[in-house]
Amino acid sequence: MNAPAKTEDFVAAKIPDGVYAETVLSVDHYTDRLFRFRMTRPSGFRFRSGEFAMIGLMVGEKPVYRAYSIASPAWDEELEFFSIKVPDGPLTSHLQMIKPGDTVLMRKKPTGTLVLDALTPGKRLYMFSTGTGIAPFASLIRDPDTYDMFEEVILTHSCREVAELKYGFDLMEEIRSHEFLSEIVGTKLKHYPTVTREAYPYQGRITDLMENGKLYTDLGVPPLDPAVDRGMICGSAAMLKDTKALLEKAGLNEGANSKPAEFVIERAFVG
Ligand code: A2P
Repeated sequence: MNAPAKTEDFVAAKIPDGVYAETVLSVDHYTDRLFRFRMTRPSGFRFRSGEFAMIGLMVGEKPVYRAYSIASPAWDEELEFFSIKVPDGPLTSHLQMIKPGDTVLMRKKPTGTLVLDALTPGKRLYMFSTGTGIAPFASLIRDPDTYDMFEEVILTHSCREVAELKYGFDLMEEIRSHEFLSEIVGTKLKHYPTVTREAYPYQGRITDLMENGKLYTDLGVPPLDPAVDRGMICGSAAMLKDTKALLEKAGLNEGANSKPAEFVIERAFVG
């Protein structure tokens, strides 16, 4: 009679070659649409804050991957991700069930345009995000390099409902109570949360608040100026397009890793 296969052998045999297989350390569910997880970081894995990686799970016999911004900063020993839950999503319908101790796959090469290297020097950095588009900025606002390069950092986060803002508020609290980051960040970071489908003190799409000037009045800053202002945008295809149009109207040009300019967009998540 053959000895039964050990579970470890079975699992190990299924992991594809050339990818990292990491261990889930914690999972936090924010709403029925949003969750965050942290996992181990492979020792040789390097990335720039703001980049994304391909994250996957074995679904049956096959790996399924999607692009995920790394939400933790480059110096962190662990990796953090902020995810939507799509009921029939090929990956997220499974990913939303992960628990500490489970294995998550990650392809080896991170990439992306929401990096400080793709911007020319400036004074004020705007990070425009909707929904899970806050993830790359969760990385950048916890990276000291961001505050070396800019005097002021403004993170706008727009969601449909108030409960969806919680991840952003938790990040602010984490920074405020962090031994070293709190000192580095000081008063340079401003958080501007808005809600579009519920009553909230800051209400409306970020594009409307830019157009009618309320964003700038609320923050006590002058309107966009290409000489000093820089931007990064992460959200849905429609939000990217509309926000980009407003930045261009204000005279800012789109940059890339190969050609730094006044603003950058991440298109990897748009289907
Ligand atoms: P709205 O409620 O008016 O659609 P989603 O979850 O659909 O990605 O939306 C996240 C947030 O982005 C919502 O507050 C939504 O507002 C807003 N949004 C959607 N489309 C745009 C757009 N074209 N420009 C700016 N904000 C947008």
